[in-house]
Amino acid sequence: MALLSTLPSLACLLLLAMALRPSSGGGSHDYGEALSKSILFFEGQRSGQLPADQRLKWRGDSGLSDGAEAGFGFPMAFTATMLAWSVVEFGGIMPPEDLRHSLTALRWATDYLLKTIAHPDRVYVQVGDPLKDHNCWERPEDMDTPRTVYSVTPDRPGSEVAGETAAALAAASMAFREADATYAERLLRGATTTFEFADSYKGAYSDDTGLKAGVCPFYCDFDGYQDELLWSAAWLRRASANVSFLSYIQNNGKTLGADDNINEFGWDNKHAGINVLISKEFLEGEVLWLQSYKQSADSFMCTLVPESSSPHIEFTPGGLIYKPGGSNMQHVTSIAFLLLAYADYLARSSRTVDCGGVAVDPSSLRRLAKQQVDYLLGDNPMGMSYMVGYGESYPQRIHHRGSSLPAKADRPEQIGCKEGSPYFNSQAPNPNILVGAVVGGPGEDDAYGDDRPDFRKSEPTTYINAPLVGVLAYFAANPS
Ligand SMILES: *[C@@H]1O[C@H](CO)[C@@H](O)[C@H](O)[C@H]1NC(C)=O
Repeated sequence: MALLSTLPSLACLLLLAMALRPSSGGGSHDYGEALSKSILFFEGQRSGQLPADQRLKWRGDSGLSDGAEAGFGFPMAFTATMLAWSVVEFGGIMPPEDLRHSLTALRWATDYLLKTIAHPDRVYVQVGDPLKDHNCWERPEDMDTPRTVYSVTPDRPGSEVAGETAAALAAASMAFREADATYAERLLRGATTTFEFADSYKGAYSDDTGLKAGVCPFYCDFDGYQDELLWSAAWLRRASANVSFLSYIQNNGKTLGADDNINEFGWDNKHAGINVLISKEFLEGEVLWLQSYKQSADSFMCTLVPESSSPHIEFTPGGLIYKPGGSNMQHVTSIAFLLLAYADYLARSSRTVDCGGVAVDPSSLRRLAKQQVDYLLGDNPMGMSYMVGYGESYPQRIHHRGSSLPAKADRPEQIGCKEGSPYFNSQAPNPNILVGAVVGGPGEDDAYGDDRPDFRKSEPTTYINAPLVGVLAYFAANPS
């Protein structure tokens, strides 16, 4: 008994020792290489006709009649917002080639989003039947499940998806301002009308039975549409400098949950991001009533940094930010992004985070972000990189159809819905390397089984990579 009960603690000690082992530290990772790869990943996710300069050659044209692979508009719009925010904050320090590729990836998403808002009083939110689609293991190039189209309208509103689309277009208009001013203007106009639509017809798509059947359970919005209205208003304010959006925030912030102090940030819940974004305006403009946004942003940071005595969010024994529910790396990359963006806003205005009287420096936020990225890239108990194609050891059996099925060039004939199952169940490594894909990552015990069916851990998503682009751009330019 005694021996048995000491075993788990031995295992813990071992893990702890591994976690505490001096990280190979400053400059051990090639952040520039990881940055280029994190952007390359988006080429593997393309739907439609591929351009001649497509670099991931094993992909082919797909979904030509609709334009978005399993086009779930809501998380896709969030991906676009975060990719745009990455460029807005860190594009200036990216190597020119990486900036160019980031904008290409962003435009792939915003061209699609512009199509979804091309009809007045309607936003298309999804193409494809998610249940039938999830029931098949098929290459995107072979996709033959129904391409059902879903939209939100004044009668069947969806302010969260319309709001996120507006936020994405507004953020993207800033990202494109220098490279393509005409396109940037078009994006901003689209953002404005889509925001008005989202705000005029308030409602949640998850509440509409027809849409619910289409979008839930995979991408249900559980947290309401209020945060997306505030988020898109904040982006429109920043992109347009139009004071009417500031008034909107002032008049509606309370009803939209601004004071609720919700420490979440991801495709479903934008609150911590809203607080960081609006804090910038407070820090730079000293608009006094905005101070509460800095207080909320501070309180979020205090749940993360070691200097603070506030209750902390969960970390794995190896030191990774951990939230239950699967696809944990999405939280890691989104939070790392907020840490770095907020650190920059604070540093530029010579301010600190206030954690109950303890002042926390921007450098502390950056240190935590770096520790998270270093874990992701290989400084972890498994000793593996969670980015495919980076480092010595990385996931071989990711939950990704195109990557796990033979390339079209090797097997041109159709592989039907159920014919893909043997590839899904196989123990063999994926034949096509989806370079730059970051998987959901290890569980709360730092363990990773590299198991294709275990989608919570082994699936890569665009909203994991989008904020990581900005984070890696920062560390590529500031490696230590
Ligand atoms: C500011 O935005 C509002 C709402 O979209 C619009 O009516 C107004 O014309 C805009 N003002 C300027 C100066 O662009």
